Amino acid sequence: MTNKTPALGTWAWGDSGKAGDGYFGSQLTEYGLREVVEKAHSNGLTLWDTAMVYGMGRSETALAQALKGYARSEYQLSTKFTPQAAGDDLVAGMLEQSLDRLGTDYVDLYWIHNPADVARWTPLLIPLLRSGRIKHVGVSNHNLKEIALADQILGEAGFRVEAVQNHYSLLYRSSERAGILDHCREHDVQFFAYLVLEQGALTGRTRPLPEGSSRAAVYNGILPQLQTLTDRMGAIGEARGASAADVAIAWAIAKGTTPIIGVTKAGHVDGLVRAQGITLTDEEIAELEALADAADVDTRGSWEHAM
Ligand SMILES: NC(=O)c1ccc[n+]([C@@H]2O[C@H](COP(=O)([O-])OP(=O)(O)OC[C@H]3O[C@@H](n4cnc5c(N)ncnc54)[C@H](OP(=O)(O)O)[C@@H]3O)[C@@H](O)[C@H]2O)c1
Repeated sequence: MTNKTPALGTWAWGDSGKAGDGYFGSQLTEYGLREVVEKAHSNGLTLWDTAMVYGMGRSETALAQALKGYARSEYQLSTKFTPQAAGDDLVAGMLEQSLDRLGTDYVDLYWIHNPADVARWTPLLIPLLRSGRIKHVGVSNHNLKEIALADQILGEAGFRVEAVQNHYSLLYRSSERAGILDHCREHDVQFFAYLVLEQGALTGRTRPLPEGSSRAAVYNGILPQLQTLTDRMGAIGEARGASAADVAIAWAIAKGTTPIIGVTKAGHVDGLVRAQGITLTDEEIAELEALADAADVDTRGSWEHAM
């Protein structure tokens, strides 16, 4: 696990495209997603994050379709199993289904999506690591105690938790406050930050999120509270030829994390590239965090427990 360039998130790719049926309310096309892949790969961004539960398999299928024609060695796949969605097939069965949808025989980075019984689920990854069906293991939405237990279980078999993936944005810094960022830094564990853009709410957009979508229900009501923050992000970005969204991503990079950004348009990849070139000053970071705290919103996802 040495690649620290941002990862590309594909949760929204699992939306069915039918009105009212989808978390994001996105209208995505095969052609548009192929453009996203081409733009990303030509800019050296090749780590794709998905999960079995994104659209119950649709995201993995759409990703495989968009990646068609690229050699498997040209990109890396990060996908997850969700203990809470397991049937009798447990982890090995869920992995086989993901591999099938992704059209590959290995996953670069495999995640326990949400913590359930850590002592029960973590050992099931060991034979998959031994067989080479998965190359590296990460845990998502786990607190410090759960991360340590998963690492101990894998450690007894000669493996380790190599990555952590949690909600981390200007608005939601619980992993930092709980010491998870420090833990990752001290133990050489790569911390992947998701919801850096709060599903589009932290981009300074003037239009509300798509009516009827789940993300609209979560965020549209709090957009006015975010305006002072997003205006300042916009101003900081403008001085560097960048946008408020680019500043949100640059902040996550400045904090030592690897952002996973949900990209639905080729232009989003340009933002990601710009963000990598932005260095925020300590004063700017402190100011943005103070404005984020003053917004006084709680964007914890329904699937997350307190850190
Ligand atoms: N492990 C977990 O439990 C977990 C949970 C959530 C997410 N994730 C992962 O993290 C990824 C990122 O999260 P997310 O996709 O939910 O949300 P996100 O990255 O916070 O936001 C993505 C949305 O922001 C907008 N956007 C993206 N780039 C932009 C740019 N440069 N400028 C303006 N707007 C931009 C797009 O909205 P429009 O489509 O409206 O343009 C996009 O759908 C997911 O795709 C998934 O891979 C993991």
